[in-house]
Amino acid sequence: MPTRRDLLQATGALAGLAACHALWPSLALAAELAQRPIPSSGERLPIIGLGTSQTFNVNPADGAAMAPLREVMQAFVQGGARLIDTAPSYGDAEAVSGELVHSGGLRDRVFLATKVSASGQLGGMQQIEQSFKALQTERIDLIQVHNLADTTTNLGILRALKAQGRVRYIGVTHYLESAHERLLQVLQQEPVDFVQFNYSVSERNAEKRLLPFCADKGIAVLVNRAFDAGRLFAQVKGKPVPEWAQNELQASSWAQLLLKFVLASPAVTTVIPATSNPRYMLDNLLAGQGPMPDAGQRERIAQAFA
Ligand SMILES: NC(=O)c1ccc[n+]([C@@H]2O[C@H](COP(=O)([O-])OP(=O)(O)OC[C@H]3O[C@@H](n4cnc5c(N)ncnc54)[C@H](OP(=O)(O)O)[C@@H]3O)[C@@H](O)[C@H]2O)c1
Repeated sequence: MPTRRDLLQATGALAGLAACHALWPSLALAAELAQRPIPSSGERLPIIGLGTSQTFNVNPADGAAMAPLREVMQAFVQGGARLIDTAPSYGDAEAVSGELVHSGGLRDRVFLATKVSASGQLGGMQQIEQSFKALQTERIDLIQVHNLADTTTNLGILRALKAQGRVRYIGVTHYLESAHERLLQVLQQEPVDFVQFNYSVSERNAEKRLLPFCADKGIAVLVNRAFDAGRLFAQVKGKPVPEWAQNELQASSWAQLLLKFVLASPAVTTVIPATSNPRYMLDNLLAGQGPMPDAGQRERIAQAFA
């Protein structure tokens, strides 16, 4: 958990990084990045995390490709964020995440979340052992069953690893609204700490049942695809962020508005936007501070993307 000193350093470091990247002159991560509790333990997690699908899938030996990712990681940690979401099926992204964390000496400052997608007891166990190697760690904070792949078998493996202390939390994921009912059924039958699913201004199905269910049952929620894999930005291209949003929500970018839209749901623990761009990382971190939208403000954000 970041100390007050970390946060003060973060403010300075982010301002420095921002200056390097000629970001907003007024950038100030003056407020602390907000945190929310994992219901099953009470441990608090910063509400902005980092996805790695595609964006971190580079050759770890390619210095030029790794350089901006190192900056992303630096901004992420110095800004007080912790949760990194990866998967063995994201090409080299899992190994790149492990390398950036290990070489930066950051293991104690991050919360590593990965996934298992193999079938069968042996397949699942082998894939997970490979994740420990790729992430260069002896303990993984969260392993999630990826897209509900062989859920019963994989959750069995994860429960055993949790009992051994090699994995701290377990969960399940999906990224399609068509799978939300199946996710709900699993959550009703299997005790898990976390669930991860898609939720954004353009995909609001989770509001109907999943988010209320998770809030009621005490399941931590990770939200993927808050930008609909980046597609939502095309809808506001060339348009300024509305003045009301700048004034009332302290939002200086559309990305911040999209993240605040998601974070307005108290059931959401952490949103995990992906980026390979240090400027975007700073931008996304800013969504984790200041006021969150109320019901009316959320509808105004959604309308801007309708
Ligand atoms: N089944 C699953 O478990 C599952 C499925 C989908 C996703 N996920 C997880 O969720 C994460 C997020 O989902 P996603 O990667 O599909 O999509 P996303 O986070 O909705 O969008 C990522 C895209 O948004 C762009 N972006 C990020 N920050 C920005 C900013 N401030 N301004 C403008 N553009 C910005 C990125 O651009 P750049 O590339 O230029 O940085 C990237 O192309 C994944 O990386 C993965 O970890 C899990």
